[in-house]
Amino acid sequence: MTQIPKVVIPAAGLGTRMRPATLAVDKELLTVVDRPIIDYIAMEAALAGVEELVLVCRESRPAVLGYLQARSDAWPGLSRFSVVVQERPLGLGDAVLQSRSVVGAAPFGVMLPDVLLYPPQAGMAALVQAFAGNSLILVNPVPSAQLSAYGIADCDDTREGVLPVRGLVEKPEPDQAPSNLAVTGRYLFTPELFEWLARQGSGHNDEVQLTDAMTRLELGAVRFDGRCYDCGSRAGLVQAVLEYGLRDPQLAPILRTALSTL
Ligand code: UTP
Repeated sequence: MTQIPKVVIPAAGLGTRMRPATLAVDKELLTVVDRPIIDYIAMEAALAGVEELVLVCRESRPAVLGYLQARSDAWPGLSRFSVVVQERPLGLGDAVLQSRSVVGAAPFGVMLPDVLLYPPQAGMAALVQAFAGNSLILVNPVPSAQLSAYGIADCDDTREGVLPVRGLVEKPEPDQAPSNLAVTGRYLFTPELFEWLARQGSGHNDEVQLTDAMTRLELGAVRFDGRCYDCGSRAGLVQAVLEYGLRDPQLAPILRTALSTL
């Protein structure tokens, strides 16, 4: 199995959907039960054998860095944390491009820090296990009513193993969607991605779109059949708290009683 030592964590967005909380606390430090979101991300990365998280932030000493350094004993093998600054929020593609000098010429992962997956071992680790030279994305089947909220992969979802991706469609209407497989926020890229990002100007919304550069790559999709929570939205964060709360043996009976009596 190829080792993927570095994962880029784009965390320089404005978190406007989670205001007012994000006026006080960075999105990655919002709490799911008793741990900030970034703790779950670090655990998922460690399960994939990752050694270093490269944070892309608005400032050089973000609070999230202090948290990771204080907790580094919690994740076997994952002990290095570095920060690169994205001066202006020019989009996810631009955020990933800022990490180029730190990542170097090796394949690398990208994990969106506001997306929590359950079970975590089927996330980044599944991409690392499947890596055979081409870039990979993790995709999650979604109900047709939700297709228009996601980037959808154009690939044959009846096949087993890594699915060749023919294209990506942003937020399609259900009858226009090429499959029911949504892009989840976990990626494994060859360094060729940086060349396309560097060449590419702004796209939709005047932002440098990661998706635009991805369509230039030979891309495969790995299916994830667990649950996926967008903790950058109110509904996603609350559902993640329920998922992890109901899996905690001490909390589960208390929560079930509370939910049944509300
Ligand atoms: P999102 O669009 O979900 O995050 O970007 P956001 O911009 O913080 O969201 P809202 O709409 O204002 O609430 C996905 C990820 O990409 C990062 C974000 O921090 C988030 O983790 N990002 C986005 C950057 O690092 N830089 C950018 O310019 C844009």
